[in-house]
Amino acid sequence: MIEVSDLTVRLGGVTALDSMSVNFVQGTCGLIGPNGAGKTTFFNVLSGFVRPVGGSVRAYGEDLLGMVHFRRARWGLRRSFQTEQAIEQLSVFDNVAMIHEHSRLSRASRRQEVLDAISFVGLEIDPQAKVATLGAAQRRLVEVARAVVGEPRLVLLDEPAAGLPDEETEHLSGVIKAIPGHTGALVILVDHDMSLVSACCGATAVLDFGTVIASGPTGEVLRDEKVMRAYLGTEEIV
Ligand SMILES: Nc1ncnc2c1ncn2[C@@H]1O[C@H](COP(=O)(O)OP(=O)(O)OP(=O)(O)O)[C@@H](O)[C@H]1O
Ligand SMILES: [Mg+2]
Repeated sequence: MIEVSDLTVRLGGVTALDSMSVNFVQGTCGLIGPNGAGKTTFFNVLSGFVRPVGGSVRAYGEDLLGMVHFRRARWGLRRSFQTEQAIEQLSVFDNVAMIHEHSRLSRASRRQEVLDAISFVGLEIDPQAKVATLGAAQRRLVEVARAVVGEPRLVLLDEPAAGLPDEETEHLSGVIKAIPGHTGALVILVDHDMSLVSACCGATAVLDFGTVIASGPTGEVLRDEKVMRAYLGTEEIV
């Protein structure tokens, strides 16, 4: 369970998060909202890149914001980025392994966990292949493998399906749904693809101008009038 209370972030003159309060209870949870609503900023707070001016985040009862950011990775925080972060010159294996280097495990167990993550996302390629040789969908799977390697407790996925064709999105959807059962982690999925969010997330929260305007079962949230109004003119909502 992730409990977010009164989280406020100011970036220059912009209040990017404005007293954001919400609980993410279990499984794969959706976080949606129009462009500029504050979704990526929220992930940046959780991963320690942005310091809020107020509020708290408790993750399984622990004060996440009180942890220095490199300890958060060891604690089990993982994320993927809205802009691709996989390093082209490195192999698939090394891209995933570099996220896992803070682990206390032996080298052999660490190696096995990296291979398990690559196989879990369904990448059927030589782990020694350079990322530069992969197509867009495979690169995206490398990023998801980086986000689930080891023993993740909280996995943040920022628009993992953006720009992917339907067939690849469907594969990714199966992978995302399987993360909680496979790893025990809670997943927060940010995406503008409402059919992906509906397929993966039992519960969804909606941010608008840095504030949560609705949260609950995904189907109900997507039919909420406030939510439809927030999206008018920006995105089609199903
Ligand atoms: N470094 C920054 N400096 C100033 N303002 C910023 C900065 N980063 C983001 N913002 C502003 O903060 C607000 C929230 O942005 P954020 O990127 O979190 O939105 P988002 O919900 O992820 O949007 P999108 O769906 O387009 O990715 C926006 O108004 C944005 O312009
Ligand atoms: Mg964003």
